[in-house]
Amino acid sequence: MSVSITAAAALLEAGALVAFPTETVYGLGADAENPQAVARIYQAKGRPSDHPVIVHVAPGADLAHWCDDLPPQATQLVTAFWPGPLTLIVKRAAHIPDAVSGGQDTVGLRCPSHPVAIELLAAFKGGKGGVAAPSANKFGNVSPTTAQHVRDEFQAELDSGLLGAVLDGGQSAVGIESTIVDLSRLATHGPVLLRPGHISGEQIAAVIGQLPALPDAAAPRASGTLDSHYAPHTPVAMQHADLLGETLNQLLNAGRRVALIHYSEMPPASASVRLAADPASYAHALYASLRTMDQVGAELILVEAPPTGADWLGVNDRLRRAAFGSTGILQQFLGL
Ligand code: TXA
Ligand code: MG
Repeated sequence: MSVSITAAAALLEAGALVAFPTETVYGLGADAENPQAVARIYQAKGRPSDHPVIVHVAPGADLAHWCDDLPPQATQLVTAFWPGPLTLIVKRAAHIPDAVSGGQDTVGLRCPSHPVAIELLAAFKGGKGGVAAPSANKFGNVSPTTAQHVRDEFQAELDSGLLGAVLDGGQSAVGIESTIVDLSRLATHGPVLLRPGHISGEQIAAVIGQLPALPDAAAPRASGTLDSHYAPHTPVAMQHADLLGETLNQLLNAGRRVALIHYSEMPPASASVRLAADPASYAHALYASLRTMDQVGAELILVEAPPTGADWLGVNDRLRRAAFGSTGILQQFLGL
């Protein structure tokens, strides 16, 4: 169903689910202060209920409503990067439902920059509410970067009314999920980068004067940090540019149907998509490309491994997780 932003805000206020565009990926939203509404997110996604969801707030929102003890670093990062693709993990205020925090003592906060998301958040509860929203995909799948991706993923839930509406805001500009930085354990761990994204650790360091550490085993649970996540249904394997042409020929000669995602000049595959060799354009197109290549009837999606520089951290993180569940597939197909 296509509805106005005012109608979508009213649906959220009534406890319904609304999918909406953000600059990173589409979100599956519910009123963060209504535990029954948040429970519907888990039901629709098929997601374990101990995984916390990010609370999306309007520009200028009173963060004291959502968290306890806001550290100065949070205020600095909000000033520098909001609205934008950065999620802050901070100590949560007591009234935040367990369904939002996954039972942890923290909450993830983000103010997205997509104009439709901003309008929705400004209309919802007069800009004073929070919309809990994970990416609008079934648990473990590739995140959606268009409204059509969301409708493809949740057609049954749209038909049953579990999902009230999908707002269409075109293709998400960033294309991979927000950077997540944990500021909830500063005294003991310093800032921790839980998920790399468009805003880099170096950019964060330039604002707060400290480079966020990479997560350790004691880091809070984040489903986006599971080894296998963001994965298409077709197996995914990564291969470096210098070996890729040879591998591709061997697979095709063995009669395998191979879909190729590459950025260098490569021989033809059963289907292929060539992405730009810069990290922002690559990220923008990555999930849509994985979805397209998932639908061409290939047995394998072969991905040219991107460069390993700091700018490529977000892209490499998502590809590694997409390929994790099919570790060993290339060797198997090549009979090694
Ligand atoms: O770009 C994004 O962040 C998108 C859009 C819709 O805003 N949202 C998104 O949500 O990617 P989701 O739920 O798919 O991923 C959010 C990640 C999960 O890995 C979740 O576990 C983690 O954030 N997270 C949320 N609250 C947390 C908390 N309090 N502590 C640790 N991790 C948290
Ligand atoms: Mg997700």
